[in-house]
Amino acid sequence: MASMRFLLSGSSSFRRGLATAAPVVGAAAMVGAGSSPSRPSAAPAALCEMKGYTGRFGGTEKLETGARGTLENSALEASAGKSAARWSIHCERIEGVAKELFCLIGGLDPYISSVSNCSGPIMKAIKDKMDNTNWDSLWSQGHTMFSYGPEMSTDPTEAMTIKMFTFMKSPKRVLEIGMFTGYGAAAIVEALPADGECVSLDIDPFLQRWVGEVMGKFPEGKKHSVMVGPALESMAKLPADKKFDFVFVDANKSEYKRYVEVLLERDLLADGAMIAVDNTLYCGLPYMPAEYDTQPKRRGFGEDIKEFNAWLANHPKLMTVMLPIRDGVTLVRKR
Ligand SMILES: C[S@@+](CC[C@H](N)C(=O)[O-])C[C@H]1O[C@@H](n2cnc3c(N)ncnc32)[C@H](O)[C@@H]1O
Repeated sequence: MASMRFLLSGSSSFRRGLATAAPVVGAAAMVGAGSSPSRPSAAPAALCEMKGYTGRFGGTEKLETGARGTLENSALEASAGKSAARWSIHCERIEGVAKELFCLIGGLDPYISSVSNCSGPIMKAIKDKMDNTNWDSLWSQGHTMFSYGPEMSTDPTEAMTIKMFTFMKSPKRVLEIGMFTGYGAAAIVEALPADGECVSLDIDPFLQRWVGEVMGKFPEGKKHSVMVGPALESMAKLPADKKFDFVFVDANKSEYKRYVEVLLERDLLADGAMIAVDNTLYCGLPYMPAEYDTQPKRRGFGEDIKEFNAWLANHPKLMTVMLPIRDGVTLVRKR
């Protein structure tokens, strides 16, 4: 009980920390019960910013960040001092187990971000502009083709992973299918060799200008170009003699199978080319039954991704592995 009282009566910086980085601070509080009081407030500011980075997804029933913070705060405060290992009655044991799970899961992404450091200046410029763009206003004024938000972008960890894949592959030519604000494209461009190029396909002309303004400020930005239009139409226009060493698939989830088919049919892949496909776990929908759907509007895309994953896994000419990074990233290459 002493440690519980200590946690509840902690410093104001600890309380502010709870409001912004609840899972991380919760984890620190749990392991730190009875240890140094300064530890929880030492949560790096970057972790707090991450909380604001994902969140809004227009048209879904997801909780707003403010409300979620309040709920998390009260849950953390109510369970302060309880852990899976420290319990005296059944309900406290359950609370402790749930809290440990919450901290273990909620602390994972912020911790990974805090020890990953390979993003560069173009990525930073894109992210800064993206986070400071009023996407709702652009949509309501008819400037953008869809209602966007930063959650449509790859997140820093995934973008850094794509950057490392690009370093590993050392590709001369990269194709990105679905660009949004070009955060993934920036990661690729930063890792391309001096004579490398990245071609992004996107349906929205607004995004070509938006990304072009940022890329134009950097010499390496010259490696990037955008083809505007429906991806399948753009893919039909790509010259077959200029093959791609690396492809990042991230546009219309219902067209994924067709994107890969066209890459194969048009022989657009260089020998040993690698394809990285985003969102192949699609919120877990491909393996969760519909009874558990909290966002039924997304079930259609989930079913399409499930079908795509099965098609890939059974394709006689392709080898594939799925990685549980963010919303699932599958790596594919020809046998
Ligand atoms: C998830 S975002 C891409 C994120 C991006 N790869 C990144 O690294 O941040 C999907 C993008 O695909 C575009 N898109 C959707 N349907 C498309 C289509 N049929 N053809 C081309 N682009 C499409 C959207 O405009 C959006 O910008």
